[in-house]
This record gives sequence, structure tokens and C-alpha cells, in this order.
Amino acid sequence: QRKVKVLVLPGDNAGPEVVVEGVKILKIISKVRTKYNGVEIELIEGKIGGKAIDDTGSPLPEETLKAAKESNAILLGAVGGPTWPRPIDPNDLSKGLGPRPEQGLLDIRKALNLYANLRPCFFSSDSLISHSPLKENVVKGTEFTIIRELTGGIYFGERKEEDENGQEVKRITRLAAHLALQSNPPATIHSLDKANVLATSRLWRRVVTETLEKEFPTIPFKHHYIDAAAMFLVKNPKLLNGIILTENLFGDILSDEASVIPGSLGLLPSASLSSLPDGKNKCLGLYEPIHGSAPDIAGQGIVNPIATILSVAMLLRYSLSLNREAKAVEDAVRKVLDDQEFGGCGYRTKDLGGTHTTSQIGDKVVEILEGFLA
Ligand code: NAD
Ligand code: IPM
Ligand code: MN
Repeated sequence: QRKVKVLVLPGDNAGPEVVVEGVKILKIISKVRTKYNGVEIELIEGKIGGKAIDDTGSPLPEETLKAAKESNAILLGAVGGPTWPRPIDPNDLSKGLGPRPEQGLLDIRKALNLYANLRPCFFSSDSLISHSPLKENVVKGTEFTIIRELTGGIYFGERKEEDENGQEVKRITRLAAHLALQSNPPATIHSLDKANVLATSRLWRRVVTETLEKEFPTIPFKHHYIDAAAMFLVKNPKLLNGIILTENLFGDILSDEASVIPGSLGLLPSASLSSLPDGKNKCLGLYEPIHGSAPDIAGQGIVNPIATILSVAMLLRYSLSLNREAKAVEDAVRKVLDDQEFGGCGYRTKDLGGTHTTSQIGDKVVEILEGFLA
């Protein structure tokens, strides 16, 4: 019996609502696997973001970071909302504002060296294709993974001297290359930058080119300017099929844009990793939907939990090496969304034109998953 620890960080607003559904998945996997003498998943809950500020004064309390370091994986909802940052002293606004919830997320990524953020964009179910806000013939066949550098760029201040030789760029390029080599033939790497303006982008482009040419000669790659790529992403997204490799801020913006392809921000999962997920070695990772805390719809039971549930699938695959279970979760999601199922209409939340609640979706995925794993 293998025992693993997963730290659960619900966060703020809609964060806890979607995390509850992800936790249902972890619990059922643990239950089924424990029965068959496999893996027991121990769940620990921690604080991050606005709730952590209100309770402890810090968006990333020591205790949370300690628990994270002792875990095999972390499942996170989302942090932030209009009520933060709060005034340090409500009676004396000249004292300024307190910490921001978002800082907790940046700090945990940095502290755990989670430099690679994988954001796959694909149709969880073919039945979503006709519901995309973009034309069916434009989006059909789109499948890429955005690999976003997560601990550098403008997010973390100026580039330091030590990165003159581009070590940060080199390691993310290598990770992207290893993922590209998992397909046969190798996936194309599309590297996005702004090398016509930014010196950091010229470093990026030079290091990506050198690393791929020298170390991975079989992988096809192309450079694109980020502005043109943002246009192609909605005009003809298949042009970017394969792997999209880019820096922190560009990757953040482009991944929200990419969610328009399958039809909702509530669909795209992510994994933030500190090493290559090879499915064998232990790989500490933080898993979260790409969306935020959706304060405009929180508390109404209408938030789409699919992005979080698919993040759990990534967690199972990359950090717990439970590949079969990860696939089963993805298959269950497909079935739940499928138009053909359940009397001719899948289970969908409001963002996808449906009327099902957050927990109805989660429960249905669990029900189907249980059947798959039995
Ligand atoms: P958001 O991603 O929370 O929401 C943008 C829009 O998408 C909203 O209309 C929202 O209702 C909708 N949406 C998001 N997730 C959805 C889901 N699962 N189902 C259905 N609809 C969904 O972005 P925002 O409103 O710009 O930011 C809100 C807060 O979240 C801010 O404080 C921001 O800093 C924070 N944020 C946190 C994270 C994170 O924790 N990883 C990510 C992004 C934004
Ligand atoms: C994301 C979010 C975060 C980011 C914020 C909340 C710090 O937008 O995870 O996409 O910019 O990385
Ligand atoms: Mn974002």
C-alpha cells in the first residue's frame, strides 16, 4: 500500500466550490485503489490567498508552505477577489493597503521552483465543437499545450545578471522538448516572443534556438511574434497545434484567450511543475484551473468544475503516476459533457449553455468514474 499526501488549497470565492468537486474525484480514486491494495491518498487542507490574509495576515502562511513541501502534490482552486487588498487600518487610509491574495500564489510557485506551467487546450468532448463561439471548421482539430515559464519574466522583477546565459530559458525549453518527444513524430514547438522589441525576448529566442538545434535536432520548431500569434490563435488555431512555448506574462494572457476555442474558461486545467513529468519519478506539482476566483458568479452553484477536475487528472498522471486513473477521469468528463448521453443532452453548467449545477457535474463524473474503475 502506497500512501501519498495531497495538499488541498481551496482559496477564495469560487475556488472552494470547484475544489470540492476535485476532492470528490481524489476521494473516489483513493477509495477504489485502497480496496485493490494500491494507493491511499491522504488529503490535507491548507490556507492561501485572501482567506489566509484574513486569518493569519499572510497570503502564504509558513504552515501552508511547510505542508506543501511535505506533500506529493497540491490541488488549488483560485485566489483573490474585489475585497482584497484590504486597508491596513480602516480608520486611517493613509497607512495604505495590506497584502494581495495573488502574492501567495506567486510565492508558492517560486518557493517550490514550479517553473513550468502546462496548460493543455483541447476539446474534452467533441460535442463541444459545435458550441464554440468560433466557427466549427476553424476550431475542429485544435490541440496544443501551452508551456508557460512560471517563475521568471516581468512577474518577478528585472532579469538578474545570473541569467545572462539564459539558464531559465534553457530549462523550460528542455522540458518543452521532452514533452514534444512524447508524440511520434515529435510535436512542433511554437515559441512566442517579442524579439523585435524586447531584449529579454532576443535572449529567449537565441536560447530556444540554440537548445533545440543542439540538443533536440528532430523536433520541428518555429518562432512567432506574440501579437501575430494572438491573432492566429482565434483565426486559425490549428496553425499552433503542438506545443506553444512562451514566457510568463504572454502565456498567462494567451491561455485565457485559448479557452475560447473549447468554449469556456471553466474548461482548461493546468499543472505547475519543477521537473519533467516522466510518469515514473516523483514530481511535485501544483494543479489548478487556469481561471480565477470568478467573484461575479461565486456562491450560486453555477461555476464550471471541469477545469479543476481535469487538473486532478493531471495531478494523478504527473505526481502520483496513476496514468490509468488519469485517463479514466478524462474519459468520464468526456461522457458527462457528451451531447449523446443522458437523453440527448450532456451535463453542462451555464457557461456552456447548460442548466446543471457545479455539484451535479462533479457527482456525475464520480458516478461514471466509479463504473470505469470497478
Ligand atoms: P476569472 O478567471 O475569475 O473570471 C473571468 C470570467 O470568467 C468571469 O466572468 C467568470 O465568471 C468566468 N469564469 C471563470 N471561471 C469560470 C468557471 N469555472 N465557470 C464559469 N465561468 C467562469 O478572472 P477575473 O474576474 O479577472 O479575476 C477574479 C479574481 O481571480 C482576481 O482577484 C484575480 O486576481 C484572481 N485570479 C486568480 C487566479 C488563480 O488563483 N490562479 C487566476 C486568475 C485570476
Ligand atoms: C493565473 C493567474 C495568476 C497569474 C495571478 C492570479 C497571479 O492569472 O494563474 O493564470 O497571473 O499567474
Ligand atoms: Mn491568468
